[in-house]
Amino acid sequence: MKDLTYRSIEDHSNAVKQALENPESFWSKIAEGFHWHKKWDTTLEYDFNQPSVKWFLGGQLNITENCLDRHLTTHPDKTSLIFEPNDPSEAAQHISYRTLHQRVCRAANMLKANGAKKGDRICIYMPMVPELTIAVLACARIGAIHSVVFAGFSASALAARINDAHCSLLLTADGGFRGSKVTPLKEIADDALLNCPSINNTIVLKRTGQHVSWNKKDLWWHEEVEKASDVCPAEVMDSEDPLFILYTSGSTGKPKGMVHTCGGYMVYTAYSFQNVFQYQKGDVYWCTADIGWITGHSYIVYGPLIVGATTLMFEGVPSYPDYGRFWEVCAKHKVNQFYTAPTAIRALQKHPTELVTKHDLSSLRVLGSVGEPINEEAWHWYDKYVGKHECPIVDTWWQTETGGILITSLAGITPQKPTYATLPMPGIQVVLLDAEGNELAGEAEGILAISHPWPSIARTIWGDHKRYKNVYFSAYPGYYFPGDGALRDAKGNYRITGRVDDVVIVSGHNLGTAPIENALNEHELVVESAVVGFPHDVKGNALHAYVIVNSKIIDETKMTDELRSLVAQTIGPIAKPDRIQVVSGLPKTRSGKIMRRILRKLAAGEHGSLGDVSTLLNPEVVEEIKKNS
Ligand code: WTA
Repeated sequence: MKDLTYRSIEDHSNAVKQALENPESFWSKIAEGFHWHKKWDTTLEYDFNQPSVKWFLGGQLNITENCLDRHLTTHPDKTSLIFEPNDPSEAAQHISYRTLHQRVCRAANMLKANGAKKGDRICIYMPMVPELTIAVLACARIGAIHSVVFAGFSASALAARINDAHCSLLLTADGGFRGSKVTPLKEIADDALLNCPSINNTIVLKRTGQHVSWNKKDLWWHEEVEKASDVCPAEVMDSEDPLFILYTSGSTGKPKGMVHTCGGYMVYTAYSFQNVFQYQKGDVYWCTADIGWITGHSYIVYGPLIVGATTLMFEGVPSYPDYGRFWEVCAKHKVNQFYTAPTAIRALQKHPTELVTKHDLSSLRVLGSVGEPINEEAWHWYDKYVGKHECPIVDTWWQTETGGILITSLAGITPQKPTYATLPMPGIQVVLLDAEGNELAGEAEGILAISHPWPSIARTIWGDHKRYKNVYFSAYPGYYFPGDGALRDAKGNYRITGRVDDVVIVSGHNLGTAPIENALNEHELVVESAVVGFPHDVKGNALHAYVIVNSKIIDETKMTDELRSLVAQTIGPIAKPDRIQVVSGLPKTRSGKIMRRILRKLAAGEHGSLGDVSTLLNPEVVEEIKKNS
């Protein structure tokens, strides 16, 4: 593969210049480094007002040939995937490119044998084991659209996602190991499938060996792959054919199925992976995310495999068997690039530094951060104890919708600045807007927006293009609007200040407040609720729920327990509010809109500075909330 790497700050600034002058020739040159069955005719066609974005039109490819087949001629025996199990006493697995290719082909044939074909949607609800990566690639091999649902989601969240995309197959496992817990995935899936008529078959991987109930549509993964051949020519896809759907939270109750397509996503994930992490031949790269999130899709599976890297996949959690596990794994596999979330760093920082220092971390060269702003304290702890002041830290800003990292430093190449994501990647045109949508110049604080498409921008929301337009292209016409605020220093470095909509990032997970409120409102005692985020020292943000109840006499402890489990059942345990406060009313405007801005201040304990309250209809409610918090 052509070398995509910028090796100096001059390379970076030249690239920025070229991309600005002629974005199409810039991306076209990069795309030439990949394996295409047919070269594209048109590099880019777009109209942000429609909105419509198409890259590498007329090009044909299969992303798995770029992830696998291409490496068989150059380094078939190189380890593609290292699997580190939850339990440290279970042996790690090293899977070569040759073996991964065979296993993906076999799994692809298994899918075909069970009726899957190009364009079908396949839901994957699996633990972090090699078969999850294999399942993802097997779908891509045959042109089926994968929809991975994080294995921490509840049955009803799983069902909603399966039904939204009309998935025809479900791939799951008997259970999943996570720390000292076992998640009964098959049991949860069985519950979900009571309401999913589109699923024809469920293929079940045996991981934990726990007892599962068996239905007539169920098949064992090991029996099905056994029957399948390991020869499976890749389906030739158009550049703009969908590759996958991945759901993310929004400001309404319904999750948004972001659709990514084959060509642009391939080009951008590889380009960004290579440049951000400065991967070198022989390096071992580890991203601790779950493949259920975009970070896992782009930077455990696709980006690293396309460039022929060794990517480590970890089944467990940072606290098991103790809070030194991440560092033990880094030392064991001599990890060179380590990519994690601030919430994990903040959790680990609370434990004795001995847990870090006793492990040999001398292999580490690059550290990464993703998912939420990294605070000063966590940044310095990461830099000092993990990086020993010798590893650049890349603070990478991006989203499920953007497919790949958009704002970041390049490890060791461009300057870092604690708590700043720093500069846009070459080819990414970032601006700051004021509330009226005017571009701000120089040092400024405002709304982050992007003025030109990049190859891996999500093309639509599955089944709801209107919503795609409303959410991302309507507030500030002519721009892609990500929903984040930011400030920019005199050198052009960006610092992300947080969401400007009703999405709260809790422990790095995107949570819309609307679906949580819907869940709370299901409780017989709840009349109305409002959920907001407040700062939390480990999770970044936590949730505060204000609920109005329809009875004077209630057992509050019982009710809050019930409310928490209602949220866990409807969405998943990650969405459980930390605080639930019973109130007699919610602060509202005269037109009946909840003033969340006020609730956010109250939840943060900022009682003195509520800002403009001139439109507040019921100030007495605010006084009551203050008194009782
Ligand atoms: C937030 C995760 C500050 C941001 C890849 C964004 C960040 C949302 C950073 C997307 C960062 C992500 N600094 N904030 N480095 N990275 N975010 O879709 O609010 O799960 O809009 O994608 O996370 O979350 P998502």
